[in-house]
Amino acid sequence: MIPQSFIQELLNRVDIVDVVDRHVPLKKAGANYSACCPFHSEKSPSFTVSPTKQFYHCFGCGAHGTAIGFLMEYSGLSYPDAIRELAQQIGLNVPQDETRSRTPRPDNTPLTELMARAAKYYRDQLKASSKAIDYLKRRGLTGEIAARFGLGYAPDGWQNLESAFPDYRARELAEIGLVIENEQGRRYDRFRDRIMFPILDARGNVIGFGGRILDQGEPKYLNSPETPLFEKGRELYGLTQARNAIRDSGTVIVVEGYMDVVGLAQHGVENVVAALGTATTPTHVQKLLKQADRLVYCFDKDAAGFKAAWRALEVCLEHVADGKHIGFAFMPGDQDPDEYVREFGADSFNRFVRQPKSLSEFLTTELAKRNNPTTGEGKAALLGEARPMVERIGSPVLRLAIIKELTRMTGFAQREVESACGLKQSASWVRPGVAPAAPASRRAPASIARALLKLVARHPEWAARLPVDLIEYAGPEAPALAALTDAVSLGELGHGGIAATLEYFRETPHAAVLGEVVAELVDEPIEDEAMESMFNDTLETLRRAGVRKAIEALIAKEREVGLSTEERHRYVQLIAQKQKLGAGQAPPAQDRIAGFSDSPTA
Ligand code: UTP
Ligand code: MN
Repeated sequence: MIPQSFIQELLNRVDIVDVVDRHVPLKKAGANYSACCPFHSEKSPSFTVSPTKQFYHCFGCGAHGTAIGFLMEYSGLSYPDAIRELAQQIGLNVPQDETRSRTPRPDNTPLTELMARAAKYYRDQLKASSKAIDYLKRRGLTGEIAARFGLGYAPDGWQNLESAFPDYRARELAEIGLVIENEQGRRYDRFRDRIMFPILDARGNVIGFGGRILDQGEPKYLNSPETPLFEKGRELYGLTQARNAIRDSGTVIVVEGYMDVVGLAQHGVENVVAALGTATTPTHVQKLLKQADRLVYCFDKDAAGFKAAWRALEVCLEHVADGKHIGFAFMPGDQDPDEYVREFGADSFNRFVRQPKSLSEFLTTELAKRNNPTTGEGKAALLGEARPMVERIGSPVLRLAIIKELTRMTGFAQREVESACGLKQSASWVRPGVAPAAPASRRAPASIARALLKLVARHPEWAARLPVDLIEYAGPEAPALAALTDAVSLGELGHGGIAATLEYFRETPHAAVLGEVVAELVDEPIEDEAMESMFNDTLETLRRAGVRKAIEALIAKEREVGLSTEERHRYVQLIAQKQKLGAGQAPPAQDRIAGFSDSPTA
C-alpha cells in the first residue's frame, strides 16, 4: 500500500503535460494542450490536457483521468506501477505503508531484481553456448532479434543457479519459480538445457520465463509457475515489445506460441503477442482491446487451434464494444505462423491476417456446421445454441450482425430470430436489461449537487461553506458531494489539486461521477471570480430548494408516522430559514403541521 499523502504530494509535483507529451506529442491550444486521442482513432484532435487541472479528457471518446490514470491506460501499468513510474520521473522514492505491506524480505532486494539477474545469467550462457546459438540460427533468428527479446539459455545441470549466484538465496529463487524444492528438501534448477524466453510486464521487468527444449524432448515448453510476480491469466508474451507496432497499426495479432511471436518479429511483423500456454482470459481481451481497435486471433488449423479460437470467441462476446473488430484467421495447411512467415514472407502473412473471418461469421458458420439449418430441428437447435451467446454480446452492432446472419441462415423473420434469442422484438439495439449508455455530454440537466461538486472539486476550500444538513436534497450526486465535503473537512486532501482529489476517490462509488464533472471542467475557461459568484448562486439555490424539500419531507412524515419533538423543532427552524431566504409563501394551509405556526415568532 502506498500512503495517500505520498500520492497527493506526487500529483502536486508532476506535470501531466510532460507525462502525456512524452508519449503523445501535444500542441498548445488556448489554455490547454491537445492532440489526436491515443485511445480511439480520430483525424482531428479532441484529446485535451489541462495544465491547471492536471487532467486529460477526450471529447470524442470520453476517456479521462489524471497523470496516474494516463499511464495506466496508455502503458497498461497497474496503479502502483504507474505511481512508481511517475515518482521515478521526478526522482522520488515511493514509501510503503508498513502497516499494510507484505512481510518484508530479509535483505529487501526486490524479487524483480533477482529475476533480472537470472535473465542476464541466461543471456550470458547463450553467448557462451555454440549449441544454443546454432539452434536459434537454424530457426532463422538473428542475434539482433534474440537480443530484442532477451533470449537466453539455461545450461544442462541441476545446480547452475546456485553456483552462478554467489549470494544464492534458495528460498527466493524458489518463490519466483526458478528453483524447485522437492519433498526431501532438495533444491534444483527448474530450467535445464532450454532456450529461455523471458516474459516481461508492462514496465519491462522480467516476471517469468518460457523454456524450450533444444530439439526433441518432453515437455517441449516449460513455463514458469504462477508466482507473486507472474499471473499467467493477466500476461501476454511479447506485449511490451509489440506495444508501438500495435499502436501504429491499430491491430494486434494473437498467436499460439513464443516462437511465432519471435519468428514473425524476425520478418518485421511486430504487432504480435501470444497467450502463455493458457486459454484466453477476459483480462487478455480487455488489455488488448485497450491498445488496438482490431484484434486478430491467428491460430493453427488443428483441433487445438480451433478450441483456443472458440474459447477466445466466447470471452470476446462480452468484452467487444462497438467500433472494435475481432477476427479469426486459421493458418492455411498445417503450418504455424512462424513456419508460414519463413516460407512466404511478411507481406504474404500480413495479407493473410488482413482478411480474417469476422467474429459473427465464425460464430454463425460454426453453429451452422453443428446444426443443419435446412431442417426444422436443426434450426431450433441452432437458435438454442445461439441464444446464450447472443445474450452475452456487449456490442449492439455485433448483436445485430449476428441476428441478421442467423435470419439469413434459418430463413426465419428477424423478429422470430430475436425472440428465439431472448431479445424483445425490434429491440435488437438494446442489451436486455441494460440501458444504452448516453455520452456524458447528453446526460440529464445538471443537478445542484453536480454543479456544486464541480465547483468544490476545483476549490476544495469552499466545501466548508456548504450547508451540510441540506446536501442530501441536492440531487443524485449528493452522496459524492457529501463524501468530498467530508474528505476536505478531515484534511485528507492536500495540495495536489483536482488530480489528487480524483485519485483519493479512485475505486470508490464516487469515482465515476467525479471523473465526469472534472471532465466537464477541462475546457471551461471561467475565471475564478466568476466561479466564485457561480458558487454563491448555486449555494443560494441549494438553500432554497433544500429548505423547501426538507419541509416537504417533514410534512409527509408527519402524515405517515408523526414527528418526534426534535423533528418538530427542526420544522420550525426550517420555516424560519425559509422566510429569511425570502422564499415567499408558507406552504398551503392543508400542508401545515397542526399546532405549529409557520413563524417562530408568532
Ligand atoms: P506448439 O507446440 O504449437 O509450439 O505450442 P510452437 O510454438 O510451434 O513451438 P516450436 O515452433 O516447435 O518451437 C504453442 C505454445 O503452447 C505452449 C507454449 O506456450 C507454446 O509456445 N506449450 C506447448 C506449452 O506450454 N508446453 C508444451 O509442452 C507445448
Ligand atoms: Mn512452431
